[in-house]
Amino acid sequence: MHLGLVGYGNIGRSLLDLLDAGELSRLTVLARPGKAPDLPGEVVDTVADLIAAAPDLLVECAGHAAVRETVLPALKAGIDVVLVSIGALSDPELERDLHAAAEQGGARLILPAGAIGGIDLLAAMAPAGGLEVSYTGTKPPQAWQGTPAEDLIDLGALTTAATFFSGSAREVARTFPKNANVAATLALAGAGMDATRVELVADPAATGNRHAYRVQSPLGDYEIRIDNRASNGNAKTSAATIYSVLREIRNRKGPVVI
Ligand SMILES: NC(=O)c1ccc[n+]([C@@H]2O[C@H](COP(=O)([O-])OP(=O)(O)OC[C@H]3O[C@@H](n4cnc5c(N)ncnc54)[C@H](O)[C@@H]3O)[C@@H](O)[C@H]2O)c1
Repeated sequence: MHLGLVGYGNIGRSLLDLLDAGELSRLTVLARPGKAPDLPGEVVDTVADLIAAAPDLLVECAGHAAVRETVLPALKAGIDVVLVSIGALSDPELERDLHAAAEQGGARLILPAGAIGGIDLLAAMAPAGGLEVSYTGTKPPQAWQGTPAEDLIDLGALTTAATFFSGSAREVARTFPKNANVAATLALAGAGMDATRVELVADPAATGNRHAYRVQSPLGDYEIRIDNRASNGNAKTSAATIYSVLREIRNRKGPVVI
């Protein structure tokens, strides 16, 4: 497989570390100048060069701000894209434009489960309607530093768990854009950005990132709780996110898809 990457940060680097030698026939990476001196492949610095290289599959792991300028033209050019910065889809205009670009190019926009699980069941139940989905994201107080949580509670003074945000997945994306990926993934798979309920919690007793959600549907109810370990390169990114992207790549080339 000829793999393309947009962004060579924590997820991009960690992903390439996980791929076995021989899994890729070619690698093309769109990176900021000087960001990929050690890359074991070809580095390009424009979207046009990336598209001209015509990778079989492109993985976007550059950040929400990069999605419009990179993913949109790649889809239009017929390149399938795994979009890791899923929170970007909470912008309805961008979501509409990405859908249109994929249709125009005959390409597919692939949304990986990322840091969350159970997306298969949620997406399977969605067409039956009547879904109620509520998600709670819990992290230690220090993990919320540098986010608008700082304006809502005194993170340093907490002795017990505090819920500092309650709203829809769309509101989370607006207020906490860097923490919107999981809520957006659940929303897009299930009840939508406006109907998916979200609570964000700072808990001094938390040791990592906890994602918990409850689904009620005419087809059945379930609850899921995931305590993710951090990736080596970035405490804010769950290791499971990187493995979920690896799964998407391997599902494209192996004889069996699961
Ligand atoms: N879906 C999920 O569950 C999930 C989980 C964690 C992170 N994410 C998202 O994944 C994305 C990447 O995360 P990360 O930890 O690897 O980030 P990172 O900051 O470590 O790496 C991003 C890299 O992309 C580069 N970049 C930015 N804009 C670019 C552009 N236009 N062209 C080329 N390179 C560009 C940056 O220079 C940086 O090196 C973020 O949007 C993050 O929110 C999603």
